[in-house]
Amino acid sequence: MAISGTRIITETFEAVTLLTINRPEALNALDQQTLQQLNTAVTAIEADPRVKVAIITGAGDKAFVAGGDIGVMQPLDPIAARQSAVETQQLLNKIEYGSTVFIAAINGYALGGGCELALACDIRIAANSAQLGQPEVNLGIIPGWGGTQRLPRLVGVSVAKQLMLTGERISAAKAAEIGLVGEVVNADELMPRARELAQTIAAKPKVALQLIKEAVNNGFEMDMNRAFAYEADLFGLCFATADQKEGMLAFLEKRRPNWRDA
Ligand code: HXC
Repeated sequence: MAISGTRIITETFEAVTLLTINRPEALNALDQQTLQQLNTAVTAIEADPRVKVAIITGAGDKAFVAGGDIGVMQPLDPIAARQSAVETQQLLNKIEYGSTVFIAAINGYALGGGCELALACDIRIAANSAQLGQPEVNLGIIPGWGGTQRLPRLVGVSVAKQLMLTGERISAAKAAEIGLVGEVVNADELMPRARELAQTIAAKPKVALQLIKEAVNNGFEMDMNRAFAYEADLFGLCFATADQKEGMLAFLEKRRPNWRDA
């Protein structure tokens, strides 16, 4: 199934949706229309019970997303700027905290809000030609779509501050070295690898996927004792699923499990 907006194109095949940000003439910079269509698409993905994994990428071979649209932001007053940050934070939180597994396939520039979009995804893989960074300081602003919070949690406070304070772009290889992306592949291998990863994850039982996301996302903000108790609760919850019984029985019977996603 393929659904085409002008700015966001989604194609769903079985349990995997490919979401392409389609504004290549502006290096896929996120203006209001693109953000609205992205919000609609992410909401539809989350509401579709068949979809377990979504891949987000950018149209063309130059950019994943080169950031929020600078022309749109330039004239904003403080209240409107704050509101736009809040609304896009809510959209990116849907990606991070939703039940679908999101993979960012970073095919080129992932800058500013583009890097923040990738940060909200569960997994990031990059083409070796990609460049990442938080160049907001060069525009007299700070990252406002979660970057000041997600980046230090991912790569550590010192490296995150260095990236944000210098505004420097880094290569995909450097991004992998600091843990900002999980894998770097040749540009022509990016989408095949993203699809392969998506298929591998989509073949897993759905509730366990959801609970892994929940345990990591929510547990991260807790003190360790509460986080361990929370993990134990979610572990216990797995035993309410048919897939836990089936997964363990299949192992004992030396056969492949038949997942029911329930
Ligand atoms: C609007 C953008 C854009 C952006 C690129 N374009 N990035 N338009 N907003 N973020 C447009 C250019 O204006 C140009 O349009 C076209 O895309 C091609 O870009 P060029 O600059 O000509 O390409 P190139 O010389 O290859 O340089 C690529 C680039 C550069 C290095 C990525 O475009 C760049 O520095 N872009 C800005 C990156 C950035 O600062 N991102 C952070 C934005 S702030 P025309 O019409 O001239 O052809 C942000 C904050 C989010 O994201 C949080 C807010 C709360």
